[in-house]
Amino acid sequence: MRDAGVRRDVGVAIGDDGRILAIAPDRELRAQFPKATEIDCAQGVLTPGFVDSHTHAIFGRSRHAEQEMRAAGVGYMEIAKRGGGIHSSVRDLRERSEDDLVMLAAERLARLAAHGSTTIEVKSGYGLSLESELRTLRVIRRLAQDLPIRLVPTFLGAHEIPLEYREAPRSREDYIAVLIDEMIPAVAKDSLARFCDIFCEPGVYTPAEARRVLGAARAQGMALKLHADELEHAGAAELAAEIGATSADHLAAVSELGIQALANSGTVATLLPGTMLFLGRNKQAPARAMLDAGCAIALASDFNPGTSPTVNFPLILTLGVSQLRLSVAEAFIAATVNGAAALGLAGEVGQLAPGFSADLALFDVRDHREIPYWYGDQRCVATWLRGRPGYAPKRLSH
Ligand code: NIG
Ligand code: FE
Repeated sequence: MRDAGVRRDVGVAIGDDGRILAIAPDRELRAQFPKATEIDCAQGVLTPGFVDSHTHAIFGRSRHAEQEMRAAGVGYMEIAKRGGGIHSSVRDLRERSEDDLVMLAAERLARLAAHGSTTIEVKSGYGLSLESELRTLRVIRRLAQDLPIRLVPTFLGAHEIPLEYREAPRSREDYIAVLIDEMIPAVAKDSLARFCDIFCEPGVYTPAEARRVLGAARAQGMALKLHADELEHAGAAELAAEIGATSADHLAAVSELGIQALANSGTVATLLPGTMLFLGRNKQAPARAMLDAGCAIALASDFNPGTSPTVNFPLILTLGVSQLRLSVAEAFIAATVNGAAALGLAGEVGQLAPGFSADLALFDVRDHREIPYWYGDQRCVATWLRGRPGYAPKRLSH
């Protein structure tokens, strides 16, 4: 991860099939492809589009009131216990139509894309009933067809135990049965999700429950992810490594054993520094220790209404460097190559190299290190997906 392979004074040749053909100095490309249409990048910095491998982008209204509550000393889990947090997004989403959710999410995904993300994983998880979870996943499917963004759908019916399963006659065990016997088979039947995820955290799902839910999802052909050791340690990273999850995400409270387990596995450690920043917790995942141990680290936004409402992926790079102490090269690789690996797309996106999909982002800076440096700014000027224009947030100015 030390070498991001930065090149200067080159152009990218893209084939009609939307794949990268060659990267070489302009003169060579002109000789090789004399009929090609040219786009002038005005000496900006062209990167692989960011691969944002962890978002919860399908929700109704914002939850801005919770930010002030936390500032006044009420914790994230305490807000959830009072019926706020994820539960308030669930109440809200259940009342919304598919069209309404498509409209809201299209606007938000456009904002994410305008900052340079071309692949975005999107989780369900604010429905928590068979019907509303399927509705959420259908929203993602529609958006994947309509928007110039590569969307990867994840089923997160195990985001919480819904409130109606917390009192007799129903129990959490009943909800887990619904997940395993109804929701996962229905999601699999219509191929609505590539991944199944679960919030494995003290106070939410236990590792034993996660093992059962994810086992059922794997049996139906889904790949696996976990919200692991986010706020308190529960051994979720160890579980992710043991069961061969594609990624273990968050990890701010990962243990030494968890780090070792991840390092010895093929599971990507996905770090979400925006979440810890926004929650005001002065504790980030031990990224340096993880890299030293040999973990593959990805960075993602965790875009969601409760813990990380940012659409700005370059800001996540900033936090990667300034809070997680990654080098700029490590941060870029975490945001591209390893993000792709966290979605099982390592051979398809995340690199500017022949054969890869021409998913690109162009930034109005002269040096790639300026992207994490101008923190919070909007420097992305255009994106391309499969070689075709995606978003063009700004005019190039040099
Ligand atoms: O990744 N941890 C659980 N899920 C989200 C937060 C969801 C919410 O608060 O709405 C997360 O932080
Ligand atoms: Fe999350």
